[in-house]
Amino acid sequence: MTIAASERPIMTDARRPISADRWASRRGRALAFLREHGIGGLVGNIRAAGAHGTAEFVARHARYSVCIFLGKQWDRTHSVDTGGQIEIQSLDVVGPNADMGYPAVSTSPSTFAHFSRFFPQDRSQYSFVDLGCGKGRTLLLASKLGFRKVVGVEFAGSLCEIARTNIARFPMPEEHRDRCSIVHADATQFEIPNGNLVLYFGNPFGLELWPAMLANIAESLRQNPRHIRLVLAGSLGDAIGATGRLIAEHGLFNRIAQGAAPFFLDTYRPFHYEIFEASGVSNSQGEQA
Ligand SMILES: C[S@@+](CC[C@H](N)C(=O)[O-])C[C@H]1O[C@@H](n2cnc3c(N)ncnc32)[C@H](O)[C@@H]1O
Repeated sequence: MTIAASERPIMTDARRPISADRWASRRGRALAFLREHGIGGLVGNIRAAGAHGTAEFVARHARYSVCIFLGKQWDRTHSVDTGGQIEIQSLDVVGPNADMGYPAVSTSPSTFAHFSRFFPQDRSQYSFVDLGCGKGRTLLLASKLGFRKVVGVEFAGSLCEIARTNIARFPMPEEHRDRCSIVHADATQFEIPNGNLVLYFGNPFGLELWPAMLANIAESLRQNPRHIRLVLAGSLGDAIGATGRLIAEHGLFNRIAQGAAPFFLDTYRPFHYEIFEASGVSNSQGEQA
């Protein structure tokens, strides 16, 4: 039997397959539960959760299933592998910050399209950088938007390999492909590129790392004052809110928008967002309508 490239086990640098995709293992985990606890265990869980809890569980499960299905369809259409929820603990990670990293889950195409309204209008004057790019789905989406360069930074080597393969396979003109690159690095230590930037953070790590991340951006801005727009987004509303407050209080950036994207069918939960601009740098660009 031939296995489609996107379904082959992903090998880490140590040639271990990535086995920690929580989405790929959903059905297996449900069957394992039934094998271990039987129908009696299932009935017990339903009783314990109550009618409301069970209805919520079923609705959540249905939303995840639709999101996973649509993600796989998008991947098949574009010959890439950007789906799943990969636990960081199972991966080879550069630097000391593995414990602070959130699992690799890609921003949905509809959610990213929604956020693109916050990108500057003249994107040929900007590079797009995803700090914690995972399998690189946002880079593929950003490659269509006319940015000068599209850069993904990721601290897990195996995810970098997948992101590079995705860039090589994604249908796009060769001159757009040449603008895309992946850097294997810890985001807090990554040398921020020169020129105007859109920095995209799909909630890559916990609050603890943000002081180091902001210090890194501040040093880059000190050496080379320029326009930077920062997009922070993720499904955990509390975490996004707390990080947004930390960024606002730090003083480097001004908040220009915050809110929640619609609950698109291709996402497992609605994404919350906070949009910032580096303060003290003039910006003649308006928002896109
Ligand atoms: C929630 S995923 C977001 C993926 C992508 N940005 C998107 O929105 O589609 C978070 C990613 O950040 C990466 N990450 C976490 N901490 C990091 C760090 N300190 N440096 C670089 N990457 C990191 C994780 O490995 C994971 O791939």
